[in-house]
Amino acid sequence: MLARLPKTVPQSTREASAALRPFVYVNVAISADGKIAPATRRFVPFGSPRDHARLLELRADADAVMAGARTVDLFPVNMGPGGLRYRRRRIKNGLNEYNLRVIVSGSGSIDAGAEIFNHRFSPIIVLTTARAAKPNLRRLVAAGAIVHVGGETEIDFAAALRWLREEWDVHRLLCEGGGELNAALFRADLVDQVHVTWCPLLIGGRAAPTLADGVGVERLTDARMLRLESARRIRDELFLTYRRADSAATYSPTFRRRKQRAAGQDS
Ligand SMILES: NC(=O)c1ccc[n+]([C@@H]2O[C@H](COP(=O)([O-])OP(=O)(O)OC[C@H]3O[C@@H](n4cnc5c(N)ncnc54)[C@H](OP(=O)(O)O)[C@@H]3O)[C@@H](O)[C@H]2O)c1
Repeated sequence: MLARLPKTVPQSTREASAALRPFVYVNVAISADGKIAPATRRFVPFGSPRDHARLLELRADADAVMAGARTVDLFPVNMGPGGLRYRRRRIKNGLNEYNLRVIVSGSGSIDAGAEIFNHRFSPIIVLTTARAAKPNLRRLVAAGAIVHVGGETEIDFAAALRWLREEWDVHRLLCEGGGELNAALFRADLVDQVHVTWCPLLIGGRAAPTLADGVGVERLTDARMLRLESARRIRDELFLTYRRADSAATYSPTFRRRKQRAAGQDS
């Protein structure tokens, strides 16, 4: 039997009023040496079945799941909610049966033939910039994507997340990497919670992606501070949950709010 992990949905009403964007939580599996894939980016899931179940549990609390272009087109993924058990859980939580899917691709390089476009159970939004080649964007639209230009040369993630909240009613956004996308969200100071499954293998390689790549901070004083919220060992894996150290402002308690709305109490 699978051991129970801490509940993923915190209960806080104080933080709700300030929320103008979704609550953003990141989930990755990392090797003991901190890598999320080999340097080749040829990915084979290395977490246990328990880690995979955890991924689906986290998706079951999300209005939308987001990932970077290479995470989506180098390995066949559908970014969906998984089996009936998880879809029922979503409905019980007041969410749509199928989560929205968001792919970040600033240059529009995401492969329109990627596996995800074969799965039409929910909208797929490609978040891109004005520098993306128009023929690429046309191919993505033909593949079924909704293209949103979220910046001129760089994506303005703060604005894009507000757009997701206002236009798509996204209150909880799960980011599933990779390292480039995670780094951009950390740089923009938009990550509220980080879930890490620490797995018992060594991958190595200085070019292998990690939880947060990009350019990183210049000085440690600029580092994002986290607070360890929970830690659980199950066999040889560690399931860690971190919160941003100053986590007062951004939590959106989706379920409570939706219940209030349903009861006619929401403002
Ligand atoms: N172990 C795990 O839990 C886990 C989780 C996720 C991914 N992975 C693995 O990690 C690898 C991929 O990670 P990665 O870091 O190389 O790539 P990634 O973050 O998945 O995707 C990078 C691409 O996403 C777009 N992107 C990311 N940040 C952007 C930004 N700020 N603005 C505009 N576009 C942005 C760009 O697309 P354009 O080139 O189109 O501009 C960029 O080339 C894969 O091997 C994947 O399987 C492992």
